[in-house]
Amino acid sequence: MEKIVSLCKRRGFIFPSSEIYGGFSSCYDYGPLGVEMKNNIKNLWWDEMTKNHENIVGLDSAILMSPKVWEASGHLSAGFADTLLECKSCHKRFREDEIKERKCPECQGELTEPRKFNLMMKTFVGPVEETASIAYLRAETCQGIYVNFENVLNSMRLKIPFGICQIGKAFRNEITPRDFLYRMREFEQMEMQWFCHPKDADKFFEFWLNERLKWLQSIGLKKENLRVFEVPEKERAHYARRQVDIEYKFPFGWKEIEGVHNRGDWDLSNHSKHSGKDLRYFDEKTKEKYFPFIIETSIGVDRLFFALLCEAYEEIKGGRTKTTKPTKEVEILLKLDKRIAPIKVAILPLVKNKPELVQKAKEIYRMLKVHFVCQYDEVGSIGRRYRRQDEIGTVFCVTIDFETLKDNAVTVRDRDTMEQERVKIENLLSYLKEKLD
Ligand code: GAP
Repeated sequence: MEKIVSLCKRRGFIFPSSEIYGGFSSCYDYGPLGVEMKNNIKNLWWDEMTKNHENIVGLDSAILMSPKVWEASGHLSAGFADTLLECKSCHKRFREDEIKERKCPECQGELTEPRKFNLMMKTFVGPVEETASIAYLRAETCQGIYVNFENVLNSMRLKIPFGICQIGKAFRNEITPRDFLYRMREFEQMEMQWFCHPKDADKFFEFWLNERLKWLQSIGLKKENLRVFEVPEKERAHYARRQVDIEYKFPFGWKEIEGVHNRGDWDLSNHSKHSGKDLRYFDEKTKEKYFPFIIETSIGVDRLFFALLCEAYEEIKGGRTKTTKPTKEVEILLKLDKRIAPIKVAILPLVKNKPELVQKAKEIYRMLKVHFVCQYDEVGSIGRRYRRQDEIGTVFCVTIDFETLKDNAVTVRDRDTMEQERVKIENLLSYLKEKLD
């Protein structure tokens, strides 16, 4: 894992938050390559939900909501809390499930009795910091969907079953954030809420669980690195009638990356009770009025980002090149799905001290950069530049050489096969479009 963390920092995927001030635990910043890759992940998920499935619409609700939302959802009570023990000597806190013996894992000190700590992040709205102005940063994006259930239903004239999806930031005061992007205090979720008749909930649960497993594999996670865990009743989230965790085999073990939940009528009935607004659905055909059940799929963008990096990261001792003598260096290859890769095309003039060559390369760069995320690189030997691009997962390298000036063609190198093809400049855009789209 350390190698991935180091690559992320070195090549501009992820930086520790507030690094010049010594960092800010559990928060991370996405660098130039990270933000491209993260946007690719979010776009793929959005397209999967809103284009590849029918009857799903999007929403972008506010992070700050009335505190009443969190009372109704149950997040302000004991259900959304970690049980922690505190060391009486060093005062560090540990989750109950991390403690093997009744001793502090760090200093062997005596531990307190377990106590509940709520995970909601508090803030104040308005100029006065008093109880009346307390608000919370949302702990899950889906509450914004439930409180807009009626708005979306009516404005879009939807009929059950239908879905509402949303991507956005969520915040939890995690006591033990750890493992890089795995458990953070500020993270991003991609959630879809499927509203259906209670009698269809079991069927749709199976459907969505399967769909999610298929999608995760379609973007590059290997089947053997994914498994499902049926969460037993006493470990389930407070709102869940059924909960299946989709787990990924991270370098530090099998861990949840996505949850599929049958939330029943927990959310809509509680919001009805607390707001006084009847959120039942009326079926025009059957004249039935009922609270729809909700099947939820919820995945963290950051966890998925991390899992995709773990899956794609490869080290090749001595390098992949067969044409020259293998060097002792270890080559890094990031075999990301071409849709996920942050840079699609690198444009490389063979040498930087031949103005005609550089000019041609820059022309090609300008032509391609409006269609794909491209990088122009003229520094170092061509072999070294190929390796730099392999390390960040760039799908194609386009090399402009001395021949280019005579035959108006370039060499296109494929990241995975390292095969090189000569392509006429006039055909280059359509060639790359066909391969990348
Ligand atoms: N709305 C349901 C919900 O929030 P969850 O299992 O608590 O369910 C869903 O969270 C997903 O959000 C998790 O599977 C994980 O991918 C991501 N997630 C949750 N807490 C996280 C954290 N502290 N850091 C990063 N991702 C987190």
